[in-house]
Amino acid sequence: MDVFEAIHGRHSQGKVKPDPLPREMIEKLLDAAVQAPNHYKVRPWRFVVLTGEGRDKLGNVMAAWQQEHHPEFPQDTFDKTRRLPLRAPVVIAVGVDKPGEAKVLEIENVCAAAAAIENLLLAAHAIVLGAKWRTGEWARATKVKEFLGFESDQEMIGFIYIGYPEFAAEPASRSSFEDRTVWME
Ligand SMILES: Cc1cc2nc3c(=O)[nH]c(=O)nc-3n(C[C@H](O)[C@H](O)[C@H](O)COP(=O)(O)O)c2cc1C
Repeated sequence: MDVFEAIHGRHSQGKVKPDPLPREMIEKLLDAAVQAPNHYKVRPWRFVVLTGEGRDKLGNVMAAWQQEHHPEFPQDTFDKTRRLPLRAPVVIAVGVDKPGEAKVLEIENVCAAAAAIENLLLAAHAIVLGAKWRTGEWARATKVKEFLGFESDQEMIGFIYIGYPEFAAEPASRSSFEDRTVWME
């Protein structure tokens, strides 16, 4: 698939089939992700691949965090939260390394990890997988970060949900660059 075709054709696909993905397929996506540019070659991205029961464990931690912080919510909210990671057979949590030396900036590490996610999303689209970048308050919850092996002050920039698409991809409709661009000549 041509890169422009991939960029223009990609869109978030939240509805995917529960069928597991072969590990080689997931590795192909991660391999595309790590081709992203990154300043000082620090490779600041960290991926935690959750499949099978790994997703149940994540759901339990998310629901426990929610119950602790919003005890007023009805029980069925926690039950729904527990099932959120089961919306796709593969969920990849993406964390960002904190800079280890003064010249490295955290914002640049976040930019590089975000570029890696976009690579991954485009690669998923190119091999006809459905994918969706999600965050939500879970991405900032210390308990969730701890479960994933991240430090509490480390940025967690997304959960990428991936699977075989339930429906064929619809053409993406997006606005123009024009009102977001100034030309200085
Ligand atoms: C940093 C980031 C966080 C996002 N978090 C969520 C989320 O929590 N829930 C959600 O439904 N979509 C989330 N999205 C997906 C966007 O809603 C989606 O990309 C946007 O609607 C544009 O649609 P498209 O991806 O089909 O172009 C997130 C996207 C980004 C870049």
